[in-house]
Amino acid sequence: MDKDSLKFLYSRFRDYKLHIILAIVGSIIEASSLAGLTYIVKEVIDKVFIDKDFEKLKLILIVIFTLAILKQIGFILKEYVFPYALYRVLKGLREEIFNKIVEGKYSAIQSRQFGDIISRASNDVEALRHSIILVGVDFITQLFTAVAMVSVLVYRDYRLFLIFLVAAPIFALSFNYFGEKRKKYTQRVQESFGEYTQIVNQTLSGLETIKLFSKENIIFLFNRINENFFKNQRKNALYDVLYLSSLEIASYIGIAGIILYGGISIVEGRITTGDLFSFLSALLILVNSLQIIQRGIMQIKVLSPVIHRIQSILNIEAEKQEGKPFSCLREKIVFKDVSLLIRDKVILKDIDIEIRKGEKIGIVGHTGSGKSSFLKLVYGLYQDEYRGSIKIDGIELRDLNLNSYREKVGVVSQDVFMFNDTVRNNLLIANPKADEEKIVKAILAAKADFVFQLPQGLDTVIGERGGVLSGGERQRVAFARLYLKDPEIVILDEGTSALDTTTEEEVMREFYKYFKDRTVLIVAHRASTLRECNRIITFENGRVSGEEKWV
Ligand SMILES: Nc1ncnc2c1ncn2[C@@H]1O[C@H](COP(=O)(O)OP(=O)(O)OP(=O)(O)O)[C@@H](O)[C@H]1O
Ligand SMILES: [Mg+2]
Repeated sequence: MDKDSLKFLYSRFRDYKLHIILAIVGSIIEASSLAGLTYIVKEVIDKVFIDKDFEKLKLILIVIFTLAILKQIGFILKEYVFPYALYRVLKGLREEIFNKIVEGKYSAIQSRQFGDIISRASNDVEALRHSIILVGVDFITQLFTAVAMVSVLVYRDYRLFLIFLVAAPIFALSFNYFGEKRKKYTQRVQESFGEYTQIVNQTLSGLETIKLFSKENIIFLFNRINENFFKNQRKNALYDVLYLSSLEIASYIGIAGIILYGGISIVEGRITTGDLFSFLSALLILVNSLQIIQRGIMQIKVLSPVIHRIQSILNIEAEKQEGKPFSCLREKIVFKDVSLLIRDKVILKDIDIEIRKGEKIGIVGHTGSGKSSFLKLVYGLYQDEYRGSIKIDGIELRDLNLNSYREKVGVVSQDVFMFNDTVRNNLLIANPKADEEKIVKAILAAKADFVFQLPQGLDTVIGERGGVLSGGERQRVAFARLYLKDPEIVILDEGTSALDTTTEEEVMREFYKYFKDRTVLIVAHRASTLRECNRIITFENGRVSGEEKWV
């Protein structure tokens, strides 16, 4: 494991030192009790079975009972206390990842594959849990157990123990060879799993498109991923079996040698039967411990890549939270020599625009000319990505407190996002305090009264991406949301694109009336939508190519 990952783990578990100490104490108690139990096997065999000493039997039973209880206490300590700490750590980690998604820089999140982020937030966090449990609970316990067992073995008969050690090189060889293979395929299985979730995810989000175009391509791609997934799992299982069975064969060879040599020693009177059985029971436990220790070592090796994948999400730069609070637009927004660069791609350049309070500005231009990007700049999605200056009442946009600014900006765009929740809750996100009267008023102004006809009215759940509603219905719900938010700066980015001309006219008439004295920016393809604008700005290839005064 590299230093970086160690630092990460240390910083996460720093507050749980007591838990870790308790878990280690638990492991030590468990390992010592186990050693006691294997030690006492000699007494059971020599005194009770062979000498038939009944008094000893009672005493031995009491000792065994006490050791068993101790072992359970140790077991509970380590199996509950450490996982408790771990689950607290993971809870915090999930929270941080989620906050990064919500509060990370828009351009940084946008540039990533969503499937990749989802896989890091779910699979990798789960892989981390799995590895840390294996290392933190099983590996540590077995280390103590191995030490305890080796002590019993050496104490019983060091010569017998030396025979076991002869098997060790075979043990080490198989560990290296099959262990490496196994690790490789474990990793491949994880990658396959990622590919698999990604393609299911992508297919679901593009279902309409996929149904209309040839399904063969995506099915072909899926089958290839699925086949690969299967192959990797099969190989993984194969090397798992080879690895474990080679370990077992190695230990059988050792045990066979011990029985042979031990048998001779008993016959010649050097050791008792009890000695040999005590030795063998400790040996079986040691073999099991060594297997788990190997597994633990392998898990330690996979921890680093998993931690790095999680860190790359945690390292996404957060949006700036501080800055001057914004309460309302008093005078104007001035763009001076502004260009927008996203990952070295110039999206907008030489933008000089002045937007006065209360103005209604129409924006037109060919597709891809930069209209939406310009609006995104206005509503503060890009703070560090622009050059030049954008002054809002004299304050640079990047010095503003974004949250307070965004509270005063409202947007309806072509693609309206809805939560998988009731219509009411989808409206309330705009203004959680709005009462029923306000909600109804907003719905009526948005010409969205169809929502009252839904099966459960406002309490009807609309599916993810607005499932139950048509595109035009969703846009009207978005207008209702806009009225509830009642923003200072109002932006429509083809927000009426899904409406028929009559409905659009009704919606826009209400819109202009409602936002009469607000600052409004509208991107639209139909001239009728822009009817009441004071001027029209035309975009072309990321630049302003013309301006026309209307009113
Ligand atoms: N985050 C981004 N990363 C890379 N390129 C981007 C990004 N956002 C926009 N672009 C590119 O910038 C250009 C302008 O896009 P924009 O969405 O602003 O156009 P538009 O005028 O709104 O087009 P439309 O009328 O089709 O909506 C396009 O070429 C687009 O591919
Ligand atoms: Mg656009």
